Amino acid sequence: MRLNALPRVRLGTLPTPLQELPNLRREIGGPRIFIKRDDLTGLALGGNKTRMLEYLVGDALASGATHLITEGGPQSNHVRQTLAAARIHGLATIIVQNPVDPAPDVQGNFLLDRLLDIEYVQVDIEAERGAKMREIASKLRVEGARPYIIPGGGSNDVGAVGYVAAMLELQHQLWDQDLNPSTLYLASGGGGTQAGAALGAALFHCDFEVIGIAIEDDGKTISDRAWAIVEPAAVRLGIRPPLTRDDLICRDGHVGPAYAVPTEECLVALKLLARTEAIFLEPIYTAKAFAGMLAAIDRGEHRDDDAVIFLHTGGSPVNFALVDQLGGAIG
Ligand SMILES: Cc1ncc(COP(=O)(O)O)c(C=O)c1O
Repeated sequence: MRLNALPRVRLGTLPTPLQELPNLRREIGGPRIFIKRDDLTGLALGGNKTRMLEYLVGDALASGATHLITEGGPQSNHVRQTLAAARIHGLATIIVQNPVDPAPDVQGNFLLDRLLDIEYVQVDIEAERGAKMREIASKLRVEGARPYIIPGGGSNDVGAVGYVAAMLELQHQLWDQDLNPSTLYLASGGGGTQAGAALGAALFHCDFEVIGIAIEDDGKTISDRAWAIVEPAAVRLGIRPPLTRDDLICRDGHVGPAYAVPTEECLVALKLLARTEAIFLEPIYTAKAFAGMLAAIDRGEHRDDDAVIFLHTGGSPVNFALVDQLGGAIG
């Protein structure tokens, strides 16, 4: 296995804490609940992209890159963290965006992007972003630069390796704290985090099941997407995938009306975790996934002597841009 041989730069403050949530458990009952604090990975206010960017930027630098090119909207956590990683490693960065209506407030991630000095190129619609990234890369190559394209969200086989490594870190913490949880819940969209976590969990013989909660599209689409990442990630690691398509589980029922539109249950979850444990979720990814975990507990899927883990994938800066949408959660 080539995990240690793959190019990597250090961007994160690792390991992130694995923390129990006793106040929440007192409130809702059920299994012991733990949270893996990847909101505290440290790069420009943290989040799951830190671990993925360690391998993506590592790969870019190993290929002699001078520029990163990626895509994402004004509130993209991936864009914020990619800009930050690029600043640290002296890479020029071009972000491809499409206009959003209404024009974004300079708040949340977009405010931080501006502080990091974002350079962006606009296309008319989201579907044109990929072609535009390739066009910019061709132009840069003609000029003698070495562009490196990172797909939206960093969700590919290179980025997923960050979560393979994360499972080794988590497995060590579970051993150290003498814990044997049944399930790791996480928010799944682009599928890179889930692909890496499922591959890492299988590779390092973790006893827990990885369950994604769909935060966009549907669970089948996302788990297909994650499976398509697992296979090349395994090749990159020089192993045969130690899991099958059936091991990629992504549950439906918590997206609500659309991606990024807060649901009532996600606002309840966000408020509950803030008021019991002083940990902030956000309504696009983590609060929807947390609501998915709470629903599973509520359905009695976990006995009282069980333990579950929630992977906090970060993103809370977006709350500052969503004051209206947070509505009742603010009180
Ligand atoms: C806060 C947060 N959680 C979860 C995810 C989902 O990660 P993935 O695209 O790897 O499924 C993202 C992706 O943008 C994110 O920003």
